[in-house]
Amino acid sequence: MSTKEISLGDLHSFQTNDGSISLHSAFFQENFHSLSGASKEAKEKFLKPAQLNRLRNAKRIHILDVCIGMGYNSAYMFEDLNRSNTPYQWWGLEIDPRPIHLGIKNKIFISNWSDEVREILNSIDKRGCWVHKQSKGNILWGDAREKIDFIPQMFSFDLILLDAFSPTKCPILWTEEFLDSLANKLAPGGRLITYCSAAAIRASLRRSGLELGSIIPTKQREKWSNGTIAISPTKSPNKIKQDTIWQPLTMMEEEHLLTRAAVPYRDPSGHSSIAQVLARRHKEQLSSELEDTTNWKRRWGKTH
Ligand SMILES: C[S@@+](CC[C@H](N)C(=O)[O-])C[C@H]1O[C@@H](n2cnc3c(N)ncnc32)[C@H](O)[C@@H]1O
Repeated sequence: MSTKEISLGDLHSFQTNDGSISLHSAFFQENFHSLSGASKEAKEKFLKPAQLNRLRNAKRIHILDVCIGMGYNSAYMFEDLNRSNTPYQWWGLEIDPRPIHLGIKNKIFISNWSDEVREILNSIDKRGCWVHKQSKGNILWGDAREKIDFIPQMFSFDLILLDAFSPTKCPILWTEEFLDSLANKLAPGGRLITYCSAAAIRASLRRSGLELGSIIPTKQREKWSNGTIAISPTKSPNKIKQDTIWQPLTMMEEEHLLTRAAVPYRDPSGHSSIAQVLARRHKEQLSSELEDTTNWKRRWGKTH
């Protein structure tokens, strides 16, 4: 599948319920952010779970943003780290330069950011790289599956932000192989953070050797999870403990990983099309001996 075949199609902007701007992709038939708020989502599902305070003493923090889109997730990290004068090195992977360009041309979007962060976003748009005091960054434009190999081996990441479109719409960025390549880029104790709580994705991340945590929804009644934190093991056991932001997977979430929903997306060649990845998984699900996910839903009183 060539980069040309993956296209966002027409993009149109709209205002989300917290007043921040998001985009809709005609090709993926999906919004970039939840309707409740682009800013809200970036803060609740990425910035808070990153818990940047725990990294303040690091010489330099390494961050990889997979699917930077308009740049919300990274921009909130930049604001926080610039304020505390923590040096960081950033890498971004993104196939389409239009979202960030549309963002910086939008008055509402740009009003979110300090002058320093506006300057960084402008440099990403114009030059693909930036330097701010002791911090610096590079974006690699193209299919993240290929471009990830252009990140020099010497870099391992404290934080990987994975914000691809949903697995059913963009399965090529949720495959066992791609998730494993991200897991291999984590530093010991490093966190991969994603809004996604799908069983297939969690099961793949666990098989890559990462410890799983579930991001606690702000309003518990809304949803059972706000996403996943996957942590690379350190020498000392890295037990996931109850926290105000995330917790170990509940019994219900563990059992979800034993159902057919946990059959992974696969892309052995690294070049499969979206249709091929979906068809491969469907076939594997049909012959799977795992529990039917409908039974799990019934057992746990899930209506969707
Ligand atoms: C949900 S949006 C990301 C939203 C973003 N984090 C933000 O704050 O605006 C998904 C992004 O994935 C990008 N994308 C889709 N397929 C890709 C691929 N194969 N490689 C890299 N980026 C891809 C899209 O261009 C889009 O910008």
